[in-house]
Amino acid sequence: MNSKIESILLALVFLVPACRAAMHPGNELRPTPEFTNGTTLTAANGTIAVWPGFPASVLMVNNSLPAPTIRVRRGDTFSASVSNKLNEPLVLHWHGILAPSAMDGLPQSAVPPDQGYRVSFPILNRAGTYFYHAHTDGLTAKQVYRGLAGLFIVEDPQEGALGLPKGSHDIPMLIADKRLNPRRELTYNPNMMDMMMGFLGDAALVNGTPEAWLSVDRSSYRLRWVNGSNARILKLGFNDGRSFQVIGTDGGLLAAPVAVTNLTLAPGERADVVVDFTRDAVGTGLTLRSVPFEPGGMRMGGGMGMMGMGMGPSQGSSLDVMRFYVDKPNTVPGKVPGKLSSILAYNESKAARTRTFDITMERMAHFINGAQFKMDVTNFTVAWNQLERWEFKNRSMLPHPMHPHGTLFQVLSRSTGMLTPTDGGWKDTVLVNPNETVAVLVRFDAHAGRFIKHCHNLEHEDAGMMLNFNVESPPSQR
Ligand code: C2O
Ligand code: CU
Ligand code: CU
Repeated sequence: MNSKIESILLALVFLVPACRAAMHPGNELRPTPEFTNGTTLTAANGTIAVWPGFPASVLMVNNSLPAPTIRVRRGDTFSASVSNKLNEPLVLHWHGILAPSAMDGLPQSAVPPDQGYRVSFPILNRAGTYFYHAHTDGLTAKQVYRGLAGLFIVEDPQEGALGLPKGSHDIPMLIADKRLNPRRELTYNPNMMDMMMGFLGDAALVNGTPEAWLSVDRSSYRLRWVNGSNARILKLGFNDGRSFQVIGTDGGLLAAPVAVTNLTLAPGERADVVVDFTRDAVGTGLTLRSVPFEPGGMRMGGGMGMMGMGMGPSQGSSLDVMRFYVDKPNTVPGKVPGKLSSILAYNESKAARTRTFDITMERMAHFINGAQFKMDVTNFTVAWNQLERWEFKNRSMLPHPMHPHGTLFQVLSRSTGMLTPTDGGWKDTVLVNPNETVAVLVRFDAHAGRFIKHCHNLEHEDAGMMLNFNVESPPSQR
């Protein structure tokens, strides 16, 4: 009798931890494999049950959805062979990473099926959370939606010395909304309204996981948020309204952490945040969600039941992202240093010129300075290493996250009010709201040659909301 009870107790002791994984509703956050620098990135069709029980055809890099995380150190040479095993053209772009024009992953560099190319260049970027994704002309939205996107993390010793949460407490999170359908497939089938507004989904996936959850302990976690959505702007916050610290934006660490209760990220934008679970009782469950906001301008989407066109919740609607369960009792005191890095602010009075980009919409199409993307047209030229003031003037009814390749910039002002915490530090993508003008200071001193500038609403980009520009060579190389 005694020994029977004992064995039942023993069984419980061993079974409970094993059962823990199955204890929460939804799906445990999918682990992301890491890319080995110098090897091959193969993009191919594949099948994976994104939703358990529903094998779905997707696009994968190295048989993984999301694409494997690239992790390199500043100063390292990043090199990869990109192999296209899709049945359509492909090019991969290293978003935010300062790559030479020929290796940046411009639409002009796409290769046909069964071909490949090699990239190899030194990492000039500061430590931070960057992003890589397909950038094929006219196919970017579909290829990214169906899986060709992953994180590109840069590390450096200065950041490593700060004592920020790391290892199992440093979580890459590629957040992207997808549209539900009966077969739970990642079907990309935008209608005319989607092409105008952007393809909005009904469900947020994190690292390709729907209804994701992560089991955490009572300590601080660094979360690397990437908005990998085609069109959805996320305003991320926790259901209990807790504050968390923003430690980095697109181009790495801020000078100092900023405490917020929510943070807006447009498609293409990233943020590194530290969340403190030390005061949460074991058993606490928290939901990270996109809180409702007023996107301004035109508000459309399934939330309004637009003619039964099957569109997802409208831009600005509330959307659950994932759950965190404080399951483990160990308490590691979480500390974020008061000073994180130093950022030399550009001086507006040193700007050599102002360049204006008028954003307009006509007959459901989007234009920058009246133009749309043409592969071989150079729309403007910038001088090497010259500080410029760029003004994005949104005269349209829709939000547009604007993204130039080849540089990182600093946000100077918003005509509608104060800068947001997302605007801080070094940026490569900035949200320009309807009827708003955003000014940034920008300089090109990394690589000369052709680059592009576009809206990171991927439906807008594919429809031509993109320009080519040329960065002049340094005088010494002319
Ligand atoms: Cu992530 Cu040209 O973009
Ligand atoms: Cu980019
Ligand atoms: Cu746009």
